[in-house]
Amino acid sequence: MSEILQLLRTTTRRLAKISNDAQTEAEIILSTLLGVTRQNLYTCNQAEIPLGQLEGIIKRRIAHEPLQYILGEAYFMNLVLEVAPGVLIPRPETELLVEWICRHAPHGARVCDLGTGSGAIALAVAYERPDVKVIALEISPDAVAIAERNRQSYGLNNVTITISDLFATATGRFDVIAANLPYIADDEYETLQLEVKNYEPRLALTSGADGLELIRRTIAEAPDYLNPGGFLILELGESQAPGVLPLLDKFKDRKIIKDYSGHNRHIHAQLQ
Ligand SMILES: C[S@@+](CC[C@H](N)C(=O)[O-])C[C@H]1O[C@@H](n2cnc3c(N)ncnc32)[C@H](O)[C@@H]1O
Repeated sequence: MSEILQLLRTTTRRLAKISNDAQTEAEIILSTLLGVTRQNLYTCNQAEIPLGQLEGIIKRRIAHEPLQYILGEAYFMNLVLEVAPGVLIPRPETELLVEWICRHAPHGARVCDLGTGSGAIALAVAYERPDVKVIALEISPDAVAIAERNRQSYGLNNVTITISDLFATATGRFDVIAANLPYIADDEYETLQLEVKNYEPRLALTSGADGLELIRRTIAEAPDYLNPGGFLILELGESQAPGVLPLLDKFKDRKIIKDYSGHNRHIHAQLQ
């Protein structure tokens, strides 16, 4: 067996103590260290594996640090985004929200991404739909700095990223408002897995006693920032949709999108 395959096996075994997806993580670590794609890892005969670096990464990961923070990057749609402890690691289920916007935003639409974090939604939409203009708003200066670096690294000139408390600095109206804002209830925070609670910013996770403070504010304010017939799409916790749907009384065609696990994850609605 090649040295790479042996390392893959031992790394997978060690990570299995803390990860349900140890083999994928081991493949990502080794392919990153070798500078090859995951697909090419199994046929790569390169012998130069930086063993000291590999050991350091495994130790940090076993201490529950998310792999994306250790490597400084996260995959989202067709992008590789810089991430650091100041921003939430973009989640695969949020890709469904991006896909929905890419399918439904009218040609040349003006799209708002509220609480942009690493810029994941804004940049992925702008990358897939060069005809749209995206305004990304975010309260955290650390996140804005990272999102701006991500924007520059893809040269996405159809995105503007601005510090803002929800819509405070927004001007004009949008055709689509998308928001993956914090939605975890304060008392649920303590129950989160260590990777999230110990490493991701609390500002990106919690939103008051029931988790819906920012979502309520967004639903109340969005009609002032949407064009007639404009869309609002929100990411939610799996149990929150029934409580949120009735708040959308100024909107029509209120629908729920389920995520890959079959949980209610997004709500979209159209301004009357
Ligand atoms: C759950 S994270 C999502 C980040 C990103 N949209 C994504 O999908 O990966 C929520 C983001 O909303 C930001 N945020 C929290 N309160 C906010 C507010 N009042 N106004 C704007 N952004 C806010 C947080 O800093 C964080 O970046």
